[in-house]
Amino acid sequence: MKNAVTVILILLSTSHYGSCAKILGVFSASGRSHYILDSALMKALAEKGHDVTVISAHGEKEPPKTKGTYRSIVVTEILENRKEMMKQLNTNMFDREDVNPFLSTVFMGLFMPKMLEATLQNEEVQKLIHSNEKFDAVIAEQFFSDADKALATHFGAPLIVLSAVGANSWVNTIVGNPSPTSYIPMLQTDYSVPMTFCERLVNSLLYVFGQIFFDLVVYPNENAKIQKSIPNGPDISDVLYNASIVLMNSHPSLNQPVPYVPNMIDIGGFHVQPPKKLPQDLQEFLDNAKDGVIYFSMGSNLKSADFPPEKRDAILRTLSKLKEQVLWKWEEDVLPGQPKNVKLSKWLPQQDILAHPNVKLFITHGGFLSTTETVYHGVPILAIPIFGDQKLNARTAMDNGYGLVLPYQEITEDRFTQSIQEILNNPKYRNNAKKISETFHDRQVSPMETAIYWVEYVIRHKGAPHLRVAGLDLPWYKYYLLDVIGFLVLVSTVVVCISYYLVKAVCKKVCNKRKTKKLKQK
Ligand SMILES: *[C@@H]1O[C@H](CO)[C@@H](O)[C@H](O)[C@H]1NC(C)=O
Repeated sequence: MKNAVTVILILLSTSHYGSCAKILGVFSASGRSHYILDSALMKALAEKGHDVTVISAHGEKEPPKTKGTYRSIVVTEILENRKEMMKQLNTNMFDREDVNPFLSTVFMGLFMPKMLEATLQNEEVQKLIHSNEKFDAVIAEQFFSDADKALATHFGAPLIVLSAVGANSWVNTIVGNPSPTSYIPMLQTDYSVPMTFCERLVNSLLYVFGQIFFDLVVYPNENAKIQKSIPNGPDISDVLYNASIVLMNSHPSLNQPVPYVPNMIDIGGFHVQPPKKLPQDLQEFLDNAKDGVIYFSMGSNLKSADFPPEKRDAILRTLSKLKEQVLWKWEEDVLPGQPKNVKLSKWLPQQDILAHPNVKLFITHGGFLSTTETVYHGVPILAIPIFGDQKLNARTAMDNGYGLVLPYQEITEDRFTQSIQEILNNPKYRNNAKKISETFHDRQVSPMETAIYWVEYVIRHKGAPHLRVAGLDLPWYKYYLLDVIGFLVLVSTVVVCISYYLVKAVCKKVCNKRKTKKLKQK
């Protein structure tokens, strides 16, 4: 009896321990792919019993049925802003393919503060800010969206940062992680390692340019949004470097291995769900494809329907010659000249399709979700990268031997056919995809469990200052030891100068002595 009581007491106390926390997620990035990651984490936390509030550009059709509550605040202004901006730019997304990486940084840096303002000024967000609600943790995404982090200070909660991509100069800066531009290519490039002299030069310039541009333009701009929207809002410099941990959507098998400070946690693959049942027509299509299936999708931002006519024709001619079946994410009702072996759909359950054994190849834009999911399921890729981190992801797939890159400008019937045939006929690509998939899955605990553990860890300890590296508190000239190097250069110059004059003086004396000797001898 006594034992039973103890057991019950222990059960009660453990169920209370780690019990419901209140967690706020604030995600101002407009892209649907970002929301897929953000909401996957927030749903899992709600499923674990926590009460979550999610501020984002997107929402759920139905609130997810979870153990804890899932409240969503949809900032519709974000997508409206984006539409307006695309209209002003008046360009097809594919035109961004050849945008210079310096310009794309400037573009995002000028565009994102508008999104942050939309978020912080949103009516419901303002109500929340002016309420007396408290949170145990605030999760914000690292995507030109540092003003969002001020909500952690406002609600007196530790800050957790979620990064949709692996270690890069944005994340490294905020946690004091080394960012050596000698061997780690910047996100906007498509360099492979080792980099040539010119690549290292451009890579370093991009890094320095980014740092200066953020310090002089982006941060002051974001700070203004904080002061405008949050009463007694903190200065941005006080929130920038205050993240307790950073959850990174990456893994060494996806990107190149790089150094991490102790509060950077890899959770790449956390959003991938076990395969669900496919809709019946897709299931039959995939089951019946005895020569295999090629899955073709340019992601949620780019639309295949926007391919210019000459590229589209080259693609259609290529696909129509294949014996394989093709499943193509095509966003319009009809495709003129649709080949017999091509099935179209406006929306496709990508993860469940990649899980099907008949899928032989994934033709993709190389976005961070698509590359993670393809590695998860061990499917080789043919990448047609357009912007952002896509070129670097594509390049990594090629360097790791599970994919090929077909630059957008070079899409012709010949090149497209050649690339597809190479991947389908050379077993190397599939084997490498399987091998990398195995290392990707070989972990102590699943990436989602890792993510939840670390969020709860931060909540339990009310922050994680003990994981913070001291480098964060140094000014940059001390961090790079410029003062020490300057001192050493000075000392060595003085030593060299003194030695020079000493030697000179001694020589002069010796010479003079000889001269007088010679004179005397005469
Ligand atoms: C920084 O984080 C710590 C730990 O979570 C917290 O106590 C402190 O108030 C935060 N500072 C700011 C300015 O948000």
